[in-house]
Amino acid sequence: MDEIKKEFEEGLKRVKDFEDLKQLKALFLGKKGRVTALFKRLKDLSPEEKKEFGREINELKSYCEKLLDEKSRELFERAKQESIEREAIDITLPARNVNFGGLHPITRTIMEIEDIFRSMGFGVEVGPEIELDLFNFELLNIPKEHPARDMQDTFYINDNVVLRTHTSPTQIRVMKRQKPPVMFISPGRVYRRDSDITHSPMFHQVEGLLVDKDIRFSDLKGVLSGFLKLFFGDVPVRFRPSYFPFTEPSAEVDIGCIICGGKGCRVCSYTGYLEVLGCGMVHPNVLKNGGYDPEKYTGFAFGLGVERFAMLKYGIDNIKLFFENDLRFLEQFSFAKGRLL
Ligand code: DAH
Repeated sequence: MDEIKKEFEEGLKRVKDFEDLKQLKALFLGKKGRVTALFKRLKDLSPEEKKEFGREINELKSYCEKLLDEKSRELFERAKQESIEREAIDITLPARNVNFGGLHPITRTIMEIEDIFRSMGFGVEVGPEIELDLFNFELLNIPKEHPARDMQDTFYINDNVVLRTHTSPTQIRVMKRQKPPVMFISPGRVYRRDSDITHSPMFHQVEGLLVDKDIRFSDLKGVLSGFLKLFFGDVPVRFRPSYFPFTEPSAEVDIGCIICGGKGCRVCSYTGYLEVLGCGMVHPNVLKNGGYDPEKYTGFAFGLGVERFAMLKYGIDNIKLFFENDLRFLEQFSFAKGRLL
């Protein structure tokens, strides 16, 4: 029995895993195991010896069971420890990047312009991109053969239908369906045959119209100066006489160059100013074409290019960047960069 005990202990030392343990158990305590075999020898002994020998075999058996049990627990603990180490989370690893989407800079600029005008009481209207020549030109006081048509290189769909070259036709559409007073802006896509680093054949404008009794040029100046200061910050604003067929008098609006602070640079062609808006008092013919009585009502209108506003505000020097969908560009406007409106 001492021999069996010793061999069992030796065997136990060599156990490396549950499989070894199972084999060792079978070898000593299984049906044909060495300890089990000892019990078979009891029948040849006298009752006296049986008692003594039986007790000893039982002790050996319990001893083996106890050691097997301990080994089993030890193996289990070790396996558990190993898996904890293997599956451990290294909290010092840098976190995985979460990609946030964002609004396109053009969308964002339109929203920002809308917010400012809404805060002043303007509504928002939309017009169609495929437009009648009648609304795009004729009723805006630009008859066929009028030289002003050359100002805008038009995509014609047929003799009477165009891709709108500006958002101004919305003025006519809204006046035709709504009595004065009207006060709205109208953002949207416009199309011209033009393409270079500051022009794209499709771009965005925001139109504005305010018509009521007693609207004066000072109202136009106040609204547009206020808007430009809210959008660009505290910049100088200047109004220059200009010409548009649908307004009289007309003006172009400049802001002090926000790139060079007015000193003169390439962007402002060394003038210190940047042209940002066209505007004027609505021409009596246009009011009439919209169904309004020009003797009773006056108003002002304006139009601006969204890409230009976005380029100046965000310091973008090529209009193509807006339309190429390069993520390296767009990601700079994602929510993750903390640059929400
Ligand atoms: N429609 C003009 C353009 O596309 C912009 C404009 C100028 C709109 C003067 C106006 C305005 O409403 O009064 O260049």
